[in-house]
Amino acid sequence: MIKNNRKEESDNLYIPIDIKDIIKNKSKFIKYNIAIMQLNKDGTRIISPIEQIEKLYSNLKSNDIPPLFVRNDYKTIFEKDMSVDISRMSSSDKSKHFASIDTYEKLKHLENIKKKIKDITRNTVFDKKSFDIILDVSSDINIINKVTVLENIKTHPSISEFYKKDTIEILKSVKDVIKGVINIFDSNKDKVNLLEFVYNTPNIDTIMHSNRVFSIFTGFILYYNNFINIGNISKIVRKKFNSTYMNYYKQIFKKYGINKGMDKIEDVIEKSMCAIEKKELVLYGLGALLHDIAKTENIDYLDFDTNEKKLNAKKHVLNSYGLLTKSGGYPLEVLFTVAFHHEYYGNGYGIFKNMYENKLSNEPHFITKHAITYDVANISSCLSLAYFPAKVLEIVDVYDQLLFNKDVKNIKLEDTIKVLQLMHSKYIDETTCLDPIIFDIFVDYIQQIRVDSLYSMRVI
Ligand SMILES: [Fe+2]
Ligand SMILES: [Fe+2]
Repeated sequence: MIKNNRKEESDNLYIPIDIKDIIKNKSKFIKYNIAIMQLNKDGTRIISPIEQIEKLYSNLKSNDIPPLFVRNDYKTIFEKDMSVDISRMSSSDKSKHFASIDTYEKLKHLENIKKKIKDITRNTVFDKKSFDIILDVSSDINIINKVTVLENIKTHPSISEFYKKDTIEILKSVKDVIKGVINIFDSNKDKVNLLEFVYNTPNIDTIMHSNRVFSIFTGFILYYNNFINIGNISKIVRKKFNSTYMNYYKQIFKKYGINKGMDKIEDVIEKSMCAIEKKELVLYGLGALLHDIAKTENIDYLDFDTNEKKLNAKKHVLNSYGLLTKSGGYPLEVLFTVAFHHEYYGNGYGIFKNMYENKLSNEPHFITKHAITYDVANISSCLSLAYFPAKVLEIVDVYDQLLFNKDVKNIKLEDTIKVLQLMHSKYIDETTCLDPIIFDIFVDYIQQIRVDSLYSMRVI
């Protein structure tokens, strides 16, 4: 045992280290033979046996964990492990990689991603290569969020506060990346159709589905903003309200046992539809990217047995919402976009439906005002039946799942038409699951794609 004082411990040779960073990098500390030093209250210091690190500290309250130190160049030594090129890795290998690195390294990776996004912003053309980088970046941020969330919830409470702090730091960086991607989609000076690139992506796994959904979702909301800004609500939607849309909304309210008078958009959609600010779109986009976070079954450190896996697939929306909520740090806009993405106006998994039933049992005379709100407070209080970004996400999610089925190798114009027709007949006419007004604007968005560009994607 060596006598020392606290001041000397934080000199140039040793730096303090969080217990969770030690646990996370245990194998590397062993591999490179790096000692962890514990400073006791009486000023003595001892070498902490790295092999038993969890056993020693994980049952202690965070305040009782003694200060721990490590040589100051340990990150440089670890960086040898970071020199691998992960851009060509499969989602499952990327997951293993990100699960094996600490927050410092994740943040460093996110900084590199930001540089890549900046480079694309500087490019004069938005091309396939740029889009492929965006796909890769989307995968990385999706997986980084996922491993961070899983670490948070499986961590012993005594050290979980460290992870919560990390989640917030990572989230801040992730939001910057999403903002950068949205700006690229928005500026897209040559008006290259984003969908042309999206239709050319492979259908490998849930991560790729999430990447496509994120791109179509953000691309659509930018289109929707323009639709609003050029006055199409009055020119198109308002005119069709009584003849076309009103009956669908009557059905929707009926599903919830509400008999409501309506004769204009304001009676069903709060603020009679409004454009989405960039700040909000970043949060909605993050929700769209993470919407199936509990469904990425290719990530093998999710310790579910076969039965639980099945349950997880069925209840992925509950689990995705649960994971993000338990993890902490995610704003309500993100959480609710994820939570309500299979609500289908009372025909889906029912997180909102349960909230609504609870509300009614507590306040039997409560009356819901709108079908759609843009405000998290109004969906929390059940003043509206649905949350705008979740209604958009439902449409994009269903569209992607129907379009990218196993049998379709190259998306053709007729495939997109067939899918939109099916969505209309099954999920709007037969049972009003999707929102009819948002769906019509979505059809306009999909139809912008030039026929010749679709044909150019054909193999023969
Ligand atoms: Fe889903
Ligand atoms: Fe999905």
